[in-house]
Amino acid sequence: MRIHVVDHPLVAHKLTTLRDERTDSPTFRRLADELVTLLAYEATRDVRTEQADIVTPVTATTGVRLARPRPIVVPILRAGLGMLEGMVRLLPTAEVGFLGLIRDEETLQPSTYANRLPDDLSGRQVYVLDPMLATGGTLIVSIKELIKRGADDVTAICLLAAPEGIEAMEAELAGTPVTVVTASVDERLNENGYIVPGLGDAGDRMYGVA
Ligand code: URA
Repeated sequence: MRIHVVDHPLVAHKLTTLRDERTDSPTFRRLADELVTLLAYEATRDVRTEQADIVTPVTATTGVRLARPRPIVVPILRAGLGMLEGMVRLLPTAEVGFLGLIRDEETLQPSTYANRLPDDLSGRQVYVLDPMLATGGTLIVSIKELIKRGADDVTAICLLAAPEGIEAMEAELAGTPVTVVTASVDERLNENGYIVPGLGDAGDRMYGVA
């Protein structure tokens, strides 16, 4: 598994405002959207392309286009949905699948309540959206589901990650073709499974419910 922490002043600036408890939901959603687009730019560095022959107003030339099969973007409901627009802004031709997982607040174990994915993901590049890589449980279950369906190139885009979650993913997904792209690897998880310093509950902050 590969971890890529995007080191850029605009990413750090937006992340700082996201973390701030005074940031209201509309601002949080807008900043998360902008941050995802910046992370997506890095995450798609290896998106597959194919040669395209075109004619400019001046001459014939050769460029590239995104290759087929189209990449697929999979937001993990609920909070991953707040990352979808920021991602498809860069990849408008991507297909979109959905996975809904909920974490039991006591056991912290995720279970699947919605699954709308193509049966066959072989040969597809998959971009999974989940804002908080905390224990890693949700992403591990999700990525195993994608690999079971044949995905051979999975990139998870997370606003924040905790070292514990990265370790769990490395243990559970060793040898799988997975990359994690994030704006920060924070200090640790607290006893309630929140990332420290983190930004709180990403879903609640996006959608304004507690
Ligand atoms: N999920 C969140 O929304 N926030 C955390 O800090 C951890 C998991």
